[in-house]
Amino acid sequence: MKEINRTVQLIEVGPRDGFQSIKTFIPTEKKIALVKTLLAAGIRRMEVTSFVSPKAIPQMADAREVVAAVKAERVEGLQLTALVPNAFGARAALEMELDAVNFVLSVSETHNRENVRRTVDESFGELAKIAEEYAAVEKAPRILLSLATTFGCPFEGPQPVSRVADMVHRAAGLGVTRIIFADTIGVADPLQMETFWEDILPVLPEDLELSLHLHDTRGLGLANVYAALRFPVHSLEASFGGFGGCPFAPGAAGNIATEDLVNMLERMGISTGVDVETLSRAALELARFAPEAFNSHMARVVAGKTACCGPA
Ligand code: COA
Ligand code: ZN
Repeated sequence: MKEINRTVQLIEVGPRDGFQSIKTFIPTEKKIALVKTLLAAGIRRMEVTSFVSPKAIPQMADAREVVAAVKAERVEGLQLTALVPNAFGARAALEMELDAVNFVLSVSETHNRENVRRTVDESFGELAKIAEEYAAVEKAPRILLSLATTFGCPFEGPQPVSRVADMVHRAAGLGVTRIIFADTIGVADPLQMETFWEDILPVLPEDLELSLHLHDTRGLGLANVYAALRFPVHSLEASFGGFGGCPFAPGAAGNIATEDLVNMLERMGISTGVDVETLSRAALELARFAPEAFNSHMARVVAGKTACCGPA
């Protein structure tokens, strides 16, 4: 049996994936307060927002205010990223002095068109433009790439691993330093996860950070984490309260809940530096805005213990 990967890092994406999935506008002050609670819980790597068209995702219209308030906290060692779909968003991330941009591109043509209204080739054109603009700037954010629908597309079904690998090579050639394989609609199963890593690892460029972004749509999120922990995965993305989902992917549901992931990793002896109770308090607060989407085992455990702050 292969050893468990004990160096895996945790990345909180709730302020992006979670918030974007909630229709009710979360007041900016509330967003900032929630992010501060995540920091108090010990989160140090976070996708804090997205710079996208407010017509596409009205919830993200206050992206700059949220980033400014979080940066003003001056938390040591904090690494902030924002999702961007184009060069317009990447310019905002540069101005806001983020550590990295997470450029989103779908493996499937159809989801890419639905999500960012571009062909895959056009999106690669945007990525090339960002790389060129950043190359001319000192201390530009790192460029990361999220490959949405890696494990299956709501419109096209399964995607060939060879297509995923080709995209990774194309992105690495443009200076991308981390690839995030995203199970946008939560269709992967643990055996598929193993086969995916076995097939793709031998054909990838070296020196790339490889990351995983899992949704728990069918309840297999943590089982998929366990399967992936046998491989050199640099980081795992998760969302507090289990909120999340792409508004342009029919049937999308929440991410794996960060507090559930923290609990699992800690119990397996993998240190995260994150406090489950504090994180759960943030999850229960956010649940007030979308009680039907709340999907966190550990936050329920914490709510049961304190009995005062269950979802409204
Ligand atoms: N941030 C803010 N505004 C943006 C923007 C960005 N990153 N990119 C474009 N815009 C604005 C433009 O300024 C323009 O504004 P105007 O109508 O006032 O002139 C408008 O949006 C349309 O610009 P255009 O380039 O034609 O975009 P589009 O209508 O083809 O939409 C995207 C393309 C990528 C901007 C849009 O589909 C989008 O933001 N998608 C994000 C989807 C997402 O976040 N999904 C969930 C995460 S996986
Ligand atoms: Zn997601």
